[in-house]
Parts: sequence; C-alpha cells; structure tokens
Amino acid sequence: MLKPRSPEQHEFDHVVEFLNHQLRADSTWPINSEYPTALTPSNMHNMSIITEEGATPEQQKIISHALIKPIVTKTPYAIYKLGAIGSVVTDPSHRQQGLSTLNMQNCLAKATAQDCDLVILWTDKTEFYQKFGFELAGSENTYVFTEPQTQRTENTRFVKGTQVDPQAILKLYSQHSVGSLRSIDDIQQYLKIPNSNVYTAWSSSNQLLAYAIDGKGADLQSFIHEWGGQVDALIDLVSHMVKTEHKSYHLMVPDHSTNLRKTLNDLEIFCHRGFLAMLRIHNFEAIAMKVKRAFRAEGLDQIILEKQHGQIVFGYGQDLYTLDQEADLAKILFGPTSIDEMTFIKPETREILGAILPMPLWVWGWDSI
Ligand SMILES: CC(C)(COP(=O)(O)OP(=O)(O)OC[C@H]1O[C@@H](n2cnc3c(N)ncnc32)[C@H](O)[C@@H]1OP(=O)(O)O)[C@@H](O)C(=O)NCCC(=O)NCCS
Repeated sequence: MLKPRSPEQHEFDHVVEFLNHQLRADSTWPINSEYPTALTPSNMHNMSIITEEGATPEQQKIISHALIKPIVTKTPYAIYKLGAIGSVVTDPSHRQQGLSTLNMQNCLAKATAQDCDLVILWTDKTEFYQKFGFELAGSENTYVFTEPQTQRTENTRFVKGTQVDPQAILKLYSQHSVGSLRSIDDIQQYLKIPNSNVYTAWSSSNQLLAYAIDGKGADLQSFIHEWGGQVDALIDLVSHMVKTEHKSYHLMVPDHSTNLRKTLNDLEIFCHRGFLAMLRIHNFEAIAMKVKRAFRAEGLDQIILEKQHGQIVFGYGQDLYTLDQEADLAKILFGPTSIDEMTFIKPETREILGAILPMPLWVWGWDSI
C-alpha cells in the first residue's frame, strides 16, 4: 500500500527535482531557492512524500509531495504557532487516487505533533482544501499604485538592490506588530530569493527609512509582499518604483496597519480587499484559550468560547450563540466577518465582542509557501 513518509536525508535532491519538474518546468532557478526556510534539508521531517512501490531505490520514484513549515507569529494579543502547508502536488498520472489527501493528512498530523494552533495555505483550489476544514479567512488590502504620488519626505535616497545590511531590515521588520520570529540568517536567505527586487529608502544620514520587496520566484510579481519603515518614506519608495520601473505596483497591507491605510485611503489609492489565506483552526482548545485571554486582558472576563456537543458556543455572560460550521470560526476570529454584520447577536454583546474581534493575523510574503 502507498504510504506517506518523510524523505530521508539522501532524498532531498530527488524531492527538489520532483517539485521542479511538476511546479517550475519553465523556471531557470530551483524551487528550493524560493522557499529557503521551508524546502531545506533542516525541514525534511516536515515533508511528506509518496513513492512508487519498487524493489530498488531507483524504482521508488516520488509521485506525490506536500510539506508543512511551522511559523511562530507574534501579534498584539497572542503568539500563535502556524503551520504553513505548501508544494502540494501529485504527478499527473497518479492523480485522483487519494495521494494528496494522504500527504495532507500526514502534514496535519505533523501540525498536531508540533502543537500548531492554526494551519494556513495559499491556493486557488479552495474546494479541495475545504474538505480538510480550511476556509478562506483573514483580511488583506491590496493598494494599486498606478502613478507616483507627490513626494512626502525630503532628501530621501532610493536604492534598488540586495546590498542591504540584513540587520537594518530586521530592525524595521521587528517594528511590525504582527509577524513571524525571524533571525538575521533568515533575512539573509530571503534576500537571495530569485526573481525578486529589493528597494530601500535612506535618510541623508544613511539610516534605512523603509524597504519594499516585490516578486518571489514564480509568485507575486509586481506585488510588494514585504515592506517596513515609516509610512511617508514607504509611500515615497513605492512612488519611486512606479516612476523608475514604469509600471504599477500592488502594495499588500494588513487591516491592522491603520496609519498606512488611512494615509493611502486619503490619497484615494485604489484598494481591493481579499482574504489573507485559507485557514484551519487546528487546535480549538489552544485558540479558544488565547482568544479568552485577549478578552480578559481588556477586562472582559465573561467571554465564552467553547465546544459543546460538537457545536461551538460563544458569547458574553449569559448571552450565548452557537456556530454550526466550525470552519466559520476562523472568519469570525480573524476576519473578514465583522461582528457588526452578525445582526442576530444583541447590540450590547456585539459591541463587547467587536472590541477584540477580529483579532490581527498576518503572514508576510517571505513566509508564504
Ligand atoms: C490538486 C492536486 C494536488 C490533488 O492531488 P491528488 O493526488 O489528485 O489528490 P487526491 O487524489 O487526494 O484528491 C483529488 C480528488 O480525488 C478524489 N479522491 C480521493 N481519493 C480517491 C480515490 N481513492 N480514488 C478516486 N478519487 C479519489 C478526492 O476526493 C478529490 O476530489 P476533488 O477533485 O473533487 O477535490 C493535484 O491535482 C495537483 O498536483 N495539481 C497541480 C498542482 C497544484 O495545483 N497543487 C495545489 C497547489 S496549492
């Protein structure tokens, strides 16, 4: 019987070869250079492969793959362990036989073993993943810069290129209220991702004021998926990119970046709202505990969020509601559902729940797989 398993150390090159062939046939770079912290020998225990049955290693060809990468993400209310799933693929001649289902189940078991609170993935095959309890959730605002804006800072110098001290990037990155924990080494590796451009804005005293990164291997061309720094310097930097590259850029912004969003909205820059990703509440008890702790930290100690007879019960004090679809919970906790639109909830309870919900959640582009 075909069984999913982690590849052995000597099989790493075969995994990369399989994924290059299946997912990057037209690329000039190897796929592992796009996901340096996920598709790497140190994460092989989190890869799941299925090989053809055969007597010799040569006959045991890889026919299906998926991987999970745990990401510790800090937010103002809680630290979450996310498991990001990616590179889910089956050789075309072996599809529709349940192989990706087996690899997905294996990855979800790895998420359990590693105490992941949530599992996240990016896909256009939403129906396939809904079967595993994933739902489109979280929010993303994409601002489309079609023309440069009037310059907002003075004496700012703009540079294109990866010759940036990773420490300087990390310093600005660390100022984000939501983001994964990263080391200098992580940043160093991310800066080497192919088909990506790094732009930076510098003060007259050579301080890094802002950075913006577009493209990531085969994905996110003209999408600024990583950025940081001062709002005015960032807007000037994106304007500089539009001016010098003669093209539009899409700046991806989380809901909780309120200053940046207010400024961009005031500038009337077109924005479309979308989902962050497909999310699965993997450990309900852990998430419920973190949500309740967030309410209690604000003095709202009668918050209820629990499972009773397979249904989710939530509310405040005596005013309780049930959710039939567990998958809807991700949308309520992390958006885009707004408590205000849940008109079946009493207005006073809506006000209390809306004080905390939806809770901020964001994954920056370098972490997406
Ligand atoms: C999407 C993809 C990964 C699915 O792989 P797969 O191995 O065919 O997946 P499964 O066989 O587990 O499931 C596929 C379908 O077969 C059905 N199925 C599951 N077990 C089955 C079995 N034993 N016999 C027949 N069908 C089966 C599933 O219910 C599923 O139905 P759906 O298409 O309605 O969702 C594959 O089509 C692929 O590699 N696509 C290209 C890469 C890609 O797009 N990856 C996703 C990126 S996020």
